[in-house]
Amino acid sequence: MRRAIIAGTGSYVPEYRMTNDDLAKIVETSDEWIASRTGITERRISTGENTSDLAYEAARRTLQIANIDATEIDLIICATITPDSFMPSVACIVQERLGAKQAAAFDLTAACSGLIYGMACASSFIETGMFQNILVIGAETLSKTLDWTDRSTCVLFGDGAGAVVLSASDSCNGISAIHLLSDGSKQDYLCLPALPLINPMIQEIENQPQVITMKGQEVFKFAVRSIAVHINTVLEKAKVSEEDIKYIVTHQANCRIIEQASKSTKIPIEKFYMNLDRFGNTSAASIGIALDEMVQRGLLTSGDKLILVGFGGGMTSGAILVEWK
Ligand code: COA
Repeated sequence: MRRAIIAGTGSYVPEYRMTNDDLAKIVETSDEWIASRTGITERRISTGENTSDLAYEAARRTLQIANIDATEIDLIICATITPDSFMPSVACIVQERLGAKQAAAFDLTAACSGLIYGMACASSFIETGMFQNILVIGAETLSKTLDWTDRSTCVLFGDGAGAVVLSASDSCNGISAIHLLSDGSKQDYLCLPALPLINPMIQEIENQPQVITMKGQEVFKFAVRSIAVHINTVLEKAKVSEEDIKYIVTHQANCRIIEQASKSTKIPIEKFYMNLDRFGNTSAASIGIALDEMVQRGLLTSGDKLILVGFGGGMTSGAILVEWK
């Protein structure tokens, strides 16, 4: 059966580390509050690089690891809620910089579930036989969307990019189950407005600031529930037992969310990979950054089964069960 395998991973984060103590100089907060409520100790913040710069560097490293030439890429999907511009897309900017001359390219909006949605699209394109090699990037400069006077949000997020290249394979490993869900009735849990509606026909202009707002506790509960639902569903779909799973890589939002999910699924916390302490919540980038770090640390070997789980604004959520190549 033709399946999509992960042929390579890559990531890139800005050099500048903003610690919790640095944040305490900007808003009324403390290292103790942030670390105990979220597990985050520092995050990377752009000092000039935009989303396409981070995405390009993560993509370049991914192709190098996968040993695939840019001209062999058929499609580039960039998941982001912080594009440089609505058009051109980040994916098109990256396509040009990589020299991926044969590739189609588009951006995808599914907030922090973006990489999972992108990989799900890519896997489907590959299974139908339409494409052979697809680069999926999650990239964000969330720092440009934060209200740096709002301590309830600005302490949570960071900038970065993570990527995978999916390739067609006739082996039986690779992506074996996908589950995606959205719940638009919870759209007010996490918001980031785009351009206001202004035109000659409109008298009253409603100007919302273009910053992230959040119902923290609602998001927390949604996230814990979603992780459990998605893990159980992909296990069922792939007819695999929890004991067969080596690692679960969820969106890296908050260690308390992941700890609660571990309790509610009764899956040992050791199976949940975490690196949010050093990067914060990088939205669509977080799962790719974590996965690449696991590869670089030599944690994954052929035959290992992983579950990747995303959840975020929309609300969106999703999971992928994949066997390492
Ligand atoms: N530093 C210090 N105090 C802070 C603070 C900060 N950075 N942010 C909020 N507080 C204060 C609040 O003002 C409140 O004070 P009060 O009791 O005097 O009113 C108190 O801390 C508790 O706030 P609350 O919002 O109830 O905290 P919480 O326990 O729910 O934790 C989050 C807040 C954001 C950490 C938590 O709700 C969470 O993790 N939610 C999920 C967020 C997330 O992951 N979003 C992205 C998902 S993709």
